Amino acid sequence: IKKIAVLTSGGDSPGMNAAIRSVVRTCAFLDVECLAVYRGYQGMIEGDFVPMNARSVNNIINKGGTILKSARCEEFRTPEGRAQAHQQLVNAGIDGFVVIGGDGSFRGATIFNKEYDFPVMGIPGTIDNDIFGTRFTLGFDTALNTVVEAIDKIRDTASSHNRLFFIEVMGRDVGHIALNAGVAAGAEEILIPEENLGLERLLDSLKRSKKSGKSSSIVIVAEGDKTGKNVFELKEYVEEHLPIYDVRVSVLGHMQRGGCPTAYDRVLASRMGVVAVEALLSGKTNLMVGIIDNEMTLTPIEEAIKGHTKIDRELIRVSDIMTV
Ligand code: F6P
Repeated sequence: IKKIAVLTSGGDSPGMNAAIRSVVRTCAFLDVECLAVYRGYQGMIEGDFVPMNARSVNNIINKGGTILKSARCEEFRTPEGRAQAHQQLVNAGIDGFVVIGGDGSFRGATIFNKEYDFPVMGIPGTIDNDIFGTRFTLGFDTALNTVVEAIDKIRDTASSHNRLFFIEVMGRDVGHIALNAGVAAGAEEILIPEENLGLERLLDSLKRSKKSGKSSSIVIVAEGDKTGKNVFELKEYVEEHLPIYDVRVSVLGHMQRGGCPTAYDRVLASRMGVVAVEALLSGKTNLMVGIIDNEMTLTPIEEAIKGHTKIDRELIRVSDIMTV
């Protein structure tokens, strides 16, 4: 392998720039040419490639978002789109690529690998932490800290007004951000898709909370939770069944995806980039770099996209104890 391309794809996440930097610098270190693909698979289809050298990635380790831009590309889902992408890679003399993204991006990569026997390597970049084969995805730690900071601020005003807040956090169909942020910010209840305890329990818990003298209550709701009610409907439900509460809603939204990556995400990104390039150069393909027990790992992409990292049940127990 003489020329490697790097791209970011799907929803962006803090730490993607640090991973791009790591891939580019590892290539420079090992004397391998490196090209950046702009705008994810869309840019690949259009041949939007730019040569990179060690200096092209100066001062980006601390930046949120992705300097390469990202896209969720419908065209790459079609055989015609992938054929065009393959032609562009061949024309540019690229013999392998590293894709930094989530499960959608990996699905595309593994299909492409099979169709064209083209070397691909994945780096898990998503705030959701929903990819099997790694304890942490890039951006999860940063998003978690962002969410905790936001909840702390909401707690200030909630407490001043003796209010109950429903706070919706991202995570698609998993509850990692919700559960961890809930424990870190001392939420009274955490509603996650992995465990639907029902609305009765929510009411009971809020009643207990009020009785025990708490001045404010925070309920974290994962966007994929399974109660069947969104945060606004939950507010109405509680107002109707428990009129003792003055209820407000806050949907944190895309602010969770931005901001400077934490030290943890920067270190993780740097480690993952090195492993990704080294793996490609040693002839490995169709794998995703991960971290398990602080060791770098490689998991077949096909396995990585099949499942999710399991929710930490111990943390659910801790949360229950903390809300006594
Ligand atoms: O996968 C990351 C994520 O931020 C999810 O948490 C969320 O459900 C989704 O992307 C939002 O996607 P978009 O930015 O396309 O609205």
